[in-house]
Amino acid sequence: MILELKGITKTYGQQKVLDSVCFSVGKPEFFTILGPSGAGKTTLLKIITGFISSSGTVHFKGRRLNNGFPEGMVIGFQNPIMFNTSVFNNITYGLKIRKKTSNYIEGKLRDVLHIVRINDLKRNALSLSGGEVQRVALARLLMLDPELILLDEPTAHLDPSNVGNIEHILHKVNKEMGKTIILATHNINQAKRLSDRLMLLIDGRTVEISDNETFFNKPKSAETSRFLKGDIVW
Ligand SMILES: Nc1ncnc2c1ncn2[C@@H]1O[C@H](COP(=O)(O)OP(=O)(O)O)[C@@H](O)[C@H]1O
Ligand SMILES: [Mg+2]
Repeated sequence: MILELKGITKTYGQQKVLDSVCFSVGKPEFFTILGPSGAGKTTLLKIITGFISSSGTVHFKGRRLNNGFPEGMVIGFQNPIMFNTSVFNNITYGLKIRKKTSNYIEGKLRDVLHIVRINDLKRNALSLSGGEVQRVALARLLMLDPELILLDEPTAHLDPSNVGNIEHILHKVNKEMGKTIILATHNINQAKRLSDRLMLLIDGRTVEISDNETFFNKPKSAETSRFLKGDIVW
């Protein structure tokens, strides 16, 4: 087990946005937090990374996380921020500030580009399309050799061919590189295509945690069936 959450509750004013959420993720699993907009997915990911506080506990590799960004964990967002410099500099920056040797950086870059194909490393990253930005952002995360990758709606703003491309990469990152992935998405079909296991989150409540087969073919909860049929609007 790489990550374990117990009793995660978060309140903003009068609103309970997460209500005693518990789940654990094994290594190297592809785990999806599926839920409509406003369910609490982003809040949950930010609690895991320690960006915001909550009650309950988060354990990463057996150690309780208190505050501060844990080593070995990275997070990718819907709209990644690119630095105004080349794609190469964007991808290698994290290792440069960690004072890695250029040999090490070149080796890592080769491994990462094998999975995430990027044609032109010299281009300015600000001129990239949405799909290219997501690929560069993923490459940048992978350079750090994380054990756990959290992704918040990475394909929400992309057209179908780029969605397919990113999904293909995520599948390889999980199955070939052996990285554990936790994906937050409202996209039912994406969750079905990628996940080993899923959690359905609605209004901050855990509705169901099941493996892919169970979740989509014989869900344990009637609310899951309604969500999958589209009766729960998102
Ligand atoms: N900083 C905040 N202050 C007050 N309410 C917030 C804050 N962040 C999120 N919320 C509320 O918490 C709920 C869950 O939001 P969020 O985690 O962004 O959901 P999701 O990512 O599933 O769309 C929403 O009702 C949202 O309005
Ligand atoms: Mg969100």
